[in-house]
Amino acid sequence: MAADAPVPELATTAAACAERLLDADRVLLASHIDADGLTSAGVASTALERASLPFETVFEKQLDAESIAGIAEHGYDTVLFTDFGSGQLDIIAEHEAAGDFTPVIADHHQPADAETEYHLNPLLEGIDGASEMSGAGAAYVLARALAAESDAHDNRDLAALAVVGAVGDMQAKSGALHGANAAIVADGVEAGVLEETKDLAVYGKQTRPLPKLLEYASDVRIPGITNDERGAVSFLSDLDVACREDGNWKRWVDLTDDERQSVASALVQHAVKRGVPAFKIDRLVGTTYILREEAVGTELRDASEFSTLLNATARYERADVGLAVCLGDRGEALERARELLRNHRRNLSEGIEWVEQRGVEQEDNLQWFDAGDEIRETIVGIIAGMSMGADGVSRNRPIIAFARKNDEETKVSGRGTGSLVSEGLDLSVVMKEASQKAGGDGGGHDVAAGATIPAGTEETFIEHADRIVGEQLE
Ligand code: C5P
Ligand code: C5P
Ligand code: ZN
Repeated sequence: MAADAPVPELATTAAACAERLLDADRVLLASHIDADGLTSAGVASTALERASLPFETVFEKQLDAESIAGIAEHGYDTVLFTDFGSGQLDIIAEHEAAGDFTPVIADHHQPADAETEYHLNPLLEGIDGASEMSGAGAAYVLARALAAESDAHDNRDLAALAVVGAVGDMQAKSGALHGANAAIVADGVEAGVLEETKDLAVYGKQTRPLPKLLEYASDVRIPGITNDERGAVSFLSDLDVACREDGNWKRWVDLTDDERQSVASALVQHAVKRGVPAFKIDRLVGTTYILREEAVGTELRDASEFSTLLNATARYERADVGLAVCLGDRGEALERARELLRNHRRNLSEGIEWVEQRGVEQEDNLQWFDAGDEIRETIVGIIAGMSMGADGVSRNRPIIAFARKNDEETKVSGRGTGSLVSEGLDLSVVMKEASQKAGGDGGGHDVAAGATIPAGTEETFIEHADRIVGEQLE
C-alpha cells in the first residue's frame, strides 16, 4: 500500500490517521473558510462518506481557544481538522489531555509547540507547506489512505479538488505546481480528472471575453493592453484571428489551438516592443490545470477560477454554498456562488483601488496599511497580496495589512514574495511573535501569514514586526 501512496513520506502517518478515523462511530470535520479549506472539507467529507463514516462539518474563520472550545462542545469523540489545527496544536492538545476529543489533523501550517499522535503535516517530513502541499493536499493523502484501509473507492478522483486547493493557496505561483503537489497532479491525470497544459498564464481563460481577459491580466503589465480597454480591443482587432462570433467577443476557450498560439505570440511581440523585460515575458506562459469532468467555459473547468469562486463563498459566511459546489451541486449552489463571485470581484477591485489611492506607510523593513472598516477582514489578506506591485506598493519588502474585526480586535495579514522568502523572510514567525507582543496570536506560512491582535495595539505590532523582518533579512 505504501508503495502506492501519493506522497510516500506521509504514508505511515496517513495510514495511522485513517485507522483512527475508521475506529470512530462518527466524526466532526472542522475546516477553514477559504478555497483551500473548502476543498479540504470536500475531499475529506467525500472520503468519510465513501468509508461509510457518519460525520458533520463545521467551518471556522480562525481556530483559537474560543472556536476550539466550541468544537469540543459538539460532543464528538473524534474531530478531524483540515487546513488548520497544526498552528493551534498547543490548545488542541490541552483538550485532548482533558479527554474532550481525539484530534486527527491534516494541515500544512507551521505547527505550534506540542505533540499529538494523529498529525499529518508535510512540514513534519521536510516537505514545504507553503509551496509543495496545501491543506487539501494533506486531506487528499488522508483520503487515499482511508480508501486503502477501507476497500472503498480509491479516491484518486479527489486529486482534482486537491489541486484547486493548492492553486487557491497560490502554490502554483512560480508557474506550475511542484514537489508533492506534482505527485497529486499526476494521480489526477492518471484518474482522468485532470489535465495539465502549457498555456497563457492569465486569469479567466474559461469565462472572460477576450478583451477583458487581456485588460485585467495585471501579473505582467503590458503597456497599451493592461488596464486599457481600448488598447486591448484594438490589439485583438488588428490580429488575423476571428476574435468575435455573431458580434460577441469569444473567450480564450472558444479559440482553436492555432488561434491561441497566434494571439499568444502576438502578445509576446507586443510586450517585447513595449519594453517589457524578458523575465517578465516568461511569466506570460505557465501551467494551467483543467478539471476534465467540468463543462468547458465554466469557472469549475479551471483550477484557478474554481478557487476564486470558492473564496467568494466561504469568506462571505457562505461556506455551505462553496462546499455544496465542491460536492457536485451544479444547480442552485453554483448559481448562488456565481452571484457571490460578482460581489467578491467588486470588493477586490475596490479594495485594491483604495490601497492605491491611500498609499502605504513605509517602515525600515516593511510597508503597511490600515483598512479599518474599508476592507472586510476576511479578504484583506488577498488584497494585500494583490496590491504588491500595484501603484506605490513595492515588491521588495513585505506588506502588512490591518482591518477591523470587531470593537475589541484587529485582523492582521502579511504577504511576501518568493524572493524575499529566499532571503530569509518567514512571516509565520513575524506574525506569531509580533502579535504575541501585542497581546494576540497568529501564524501561517513563510510567504503569507495572519494574526489577530487587540484593537489599539497596531503600533506595537508594527514596531516588533519591523524589527523581526529586519533581523530575518539581515
Ligand atoms: O490558510 P491557508 O494556508 O489556506 O491560506 C494560505 C494563504 O496564503 C492564501 O490566502 C494564499 O493566497 C496565501 N499565499 C500567498 N502567496 C503564496 C502562498 C500563499 O499569498 N506564495
Ligand atoms: O488571513 P490571511 O489570509 O492573511 O492568512 C494567511 C495565512 O495565515 C493563512 O494560511 C492562515 O490560515 C494563516 N493564519 C494563521 N493564524 C491567524 C491568521 C492567519 O495561521 N491568526
Ligand atoms: Zn491552506
